[in-house]
Amino acid sequence: MCYRCIISVELYSFFSKKLMSNSWQIENFIDIQGGCLHMDGVNAVELAREFGTPLFVFSERRVRHNIERLKRVESVIACDLKLCYAAKAMSTMGILKAVKNAGCDIEVNSGGELWKALEIGFSGDQIIFNGTSKEIWELENAINAGIYAIQVDSLYELSLIEETAKHLGKRANVSLRLVPEIESSTHSGLQTALLTSKFGMMPDEALAAIRRYKESPHLDLRGIHLHVGSQNPDPAVYTSAIQVLYSELKKVLAETGVALKHINIGGGFPVKYLSSEENEIGFPEERREMFEADFEPSDALFAAWQAIREDAESSILSGSIKDLTLLVEPGRSIIADTAICLTTVRNHKTRPVEATAENRNLTTDNWLLTDAGFNILLSMETYKWYYHLISAERPNAPHDFPYKVAGPLCDGGDVYFDIEGEGRLPEHRRLPADVKPGEILAMLNCGAYSLAQASQYNGRFLPPVVLIREAGRVDLIRKRDNFVDLVNSDIY
Ligand SMILES: Cc1ncc(COP(=O)(O)O)c(C=O)c1O
Repeated sequence: MCYRCIISVELYSFFSKKLMSNSWQIENFIDIQGGCLHMDGVNAVELAREFGTPLFVFSERRVRHNIERLKRVESVIACDLKLCYAAKAMSTMGILKAVKNAGCDIEVNSGGELWKALEIGFSGDQIIFNGTSKEIWELENAINAGIYAIQVDSLYELSLIEETAKHLGKRANVSLRLVPEIESSTHSGLQTALLTSKFGMMPDEALAAIRRYKESPHLDLRGIHLHVGSQNPDPAVYTSAIQVLYSELKKVLAETGVALKHINIGGGFPVKYLSSEENEIGFPEERREMFEADFEPSDALFAAWQAIREDAESSILSGSIKDLTLLVEPGRSIIADTAICLTTVRNHKTRPVEATAENRNLTTDNWLLTDAGFNILLSMETYKWYYHLISAERPNAPHDFPYKVAGPLCDGGDVYFDIEGEGRLPEHRRLPADVKPGEILAMLNCGAYSLAQASQYNGRFLPPVVLIREAGRVDLIRKRDNFVDLVNSDIY
């Protein structure tokens, strides 16, 4: 698709979105029918009643939509694109299968994720493998599977990979991960391209490593890699990333004679967790940029490619750079907005409070206690992540009544609002007036870094997952844990 067509498709979806009454609605995907929240035409409240809560509901159609959106990057660059889904974002087997069926390759981060990818049927050349602390057995499995690239975190690890490949009598495909000091304005815990972060090696180390190992019969030095961070609000970081990688690629060629075949710019494209139209009163201003971030990956990559275009295109044409592939490894932008988490209000209480600047007349706090806590949405606690919350039963009702909403865990931090004046979330969450126990709520954009990080803390069952198929059928792709699951690995 040409670049102009991309712009007009985006303008169309922008204006069609504007016609909808709530800014979180997405036409033909997540909307209101018969007064209830629907996803892909399926009634969320009925799903909650049938499967119980908490419940994750994913859309197969949206997975394909997001992958196709990212694949548009190929039309704005002059080399091949390899799109690898970052499995760490969500790796329930049914989701990995949906990702594979949508024509996407995969990035794994451990021997466990590698095993899952192979089990789903990804071929070796569809897999890349990241990680800071790989073990010999993981390297052996990756080499035996002939994966596209093991992304090397350090010089020590490179020597380990060579030794392991030698021992197996094979050649390992490798790509070196760089920390080039690119700063993003995302959450500090999500920054990964700074020297203060734990990842990768300095560009000079990579150059020395390539010089040292270029004749090794056990290593195929294929590429260089970096990942700026997750939920990057500023598209300009991709221009910096591509400039750094391209100039390193040229340097490696000039100084070592090694023609690397790919550059990998990582993932990190943002998801719009908060709409500016959403009247989320008291939302901390300094967090808005990150949670409202919204740009087209193909726009960011178009701009990034312009920065190297002249040189890259003439080098590719003249053959001084051959067979260049651009790898991207997004997780969040493929999976976050494909899912909602349904939760039931299980308890209600009121507490006297002092009036605040935000709520001058408030003398009572209304507390709603749900069945979804940070054991299934860990980022709510670690990064004070914001998930927009609505009533699935009354999405059209004015969401203007302030509540203190909290999860079920025996932990004071298991709340959906700002505690102790940290200013990282609103002080209250807005829902319709008069929410009572039994009402079903929905948290939006819950597909990424949720179930993938879940635990059974407090003896809580991991929740079920349903996937709405492209044809409209609803399939259970993960059952709810039971008592046996709670003790399955215990020896007693
Ligand atoms: C190396 C690497 N690649 C890709 C990703 C995926 O990032 P995101 O889910 O923000 O696209 C991550 C996540 O932090 C990562 O560490």
